[in-house]
Amino acid sequence: MTIQPARGTRDIYGEELRAFSFVERTAKELAERYGYGEIRTPVFEFTEVFSRGIGEATDVVSKEMYTFTDRGGESLTLRPEGTSGAVRAFISEGMEQNQPVKLFYSGSMFRYERPQKGRYRQFNQIGVELLGASSPQADIEVLSLAWEFLKALGLKDFIRLELNTLGDLESRATYREALVSYFSAHKDELSEDSLNRLDKNPLRILDSKDERDKKIVEGAPEMTAYLNEESREFFETVQEGLKALDIPYTVNPRLVRGLDYYRHTVFEFITESLGTQGTVLGGGRYDGLVQELGGSQTPGIGFGSGVDRLAMLLVETNRLPSAPRPIAVVPVGDDAVFPVMKIAQDLRRNGCIIDMTYSGNMGKRLKKANKINACAAIIAGSDELAKGSVSVRDLDSGEQAEVLIENLPEYLSKYVRG
Ligand code: HAM
Repeated sequence: MTIQPARGTRDIYGEELRAFSFVERTAKELAERYGYGEIRTPVFEFTEVFSRGIGEATDVVSKEMYTFTDRGGESLTLRPEGTSGAVRAFISEGMEQNQPVKLFYSGSMFRYERPQKGRYRQFNQIGVELLGASSPQADIEVLSLAWEFLKALGLKDFIRLELNTLGDLESRATYREALVSYFSAHKDELSEDSLNRLDKNPLRILDSKDERDKKIVEGAPEMTAYLNEESREFFETVQEGLKALDIPYTVNPRLVRGLDYYRHTVFEFITESLGTQGTVLGGGRYDGLVQELGGSQTPGIGFGSGVDRLAMLLVETNRLPSAPRPIAVVPVGDDAVFPVMKIAQDLRRNGCIIDMTYSGNMGKRLKKANKINACAAIIAGSDELAKGSVSVRDLDSGEQAEVLIENLPEYLSKYVRG
């Protein structure tokens, strides 16, 4: 038997990992610019943290969690998302004293979903959570961060922002009733999944992918008609802010998101370039979550973004900056090996990327240098070295020059990027 990675997991390396790092680095840099500090929460938590926070009736909690009992008899769950853990940390670390608190995180999440392109059982998210700010200004700033992040990745032309509001508790409850009564009148036409959701979570029927449901959803009442004055004003201010900051968006009254903790603003950034798993970033306001997990009433808003999907989008749209090219060192003859390794060591200290092959004659080594896409080769035999110089060949133009070793850092500076 050959051992394979478990279904829904994979090894990430090469170009894909380069894209991952680019996404994570960009997110971290931007989050810092917006005043967020990084947090690393545990990969597993008490199951309750997620079941209470995300909601028992959601797909994530009812079908997708990796839950196990440890040797001490505790029920633990691998985190399916980052918000619940961040909020748990906010409470248990006593951060409630210094609001607002702005947290950035990056790491693996786990959901037992059916694997397909862009959907994995272990996947990676970057995310931010802003706790302790109830004003719509916070929503606008969080959306601005999301937008600038995707722009900095060079993906702005491939994504669109969809926005909706779920209103406050009161508005949401009235809307829920309206939905239950509408869908109850169409019980016979609903899919089995949606029938099950009718009592537990009727909002979820709105984003059902089932063709039968889609037809009925078309005629369903819209949230906007059920917003109370306060919720309507809140949503309007968020939209005014987006316009003031030149962030393009469309309102999608059917956007409900898959987790139960949301109130007021919800949003998703979607691409058409990845097939069905096109949501690259999603988030919203969750003013009841801190209390649900045992803290004091504290507003919160944030987003999570799928690194796997963004990395794939970068590669597929040719937006991933190319890898820096190495300079190869090629000793000619055994006597040159150590002196050349010494030159390589010094140049690396100067910030050059230097690679070498470990055996073979000059021809073989130069072939290898081309294979690793080196931009130049430093070729040196003992005669040249005795004169204190080496040859530098530009591997694109083929031009070669003799360069004094002491002048190498300056001569090679054209090859050192950024
Ligand atoms: P979410 O929409 O469940 O929200 O996930 C956020 C993003 O994670 C998705 O838009 C998608 O890009 C990525 N993602 C989710 N599941 C998978 C999967 N199986 N494979 C690959 N990528 C996936 C949350 O998790 C919330 N915690 C976001 C949030 C933060 N809301 C407020 N604060």
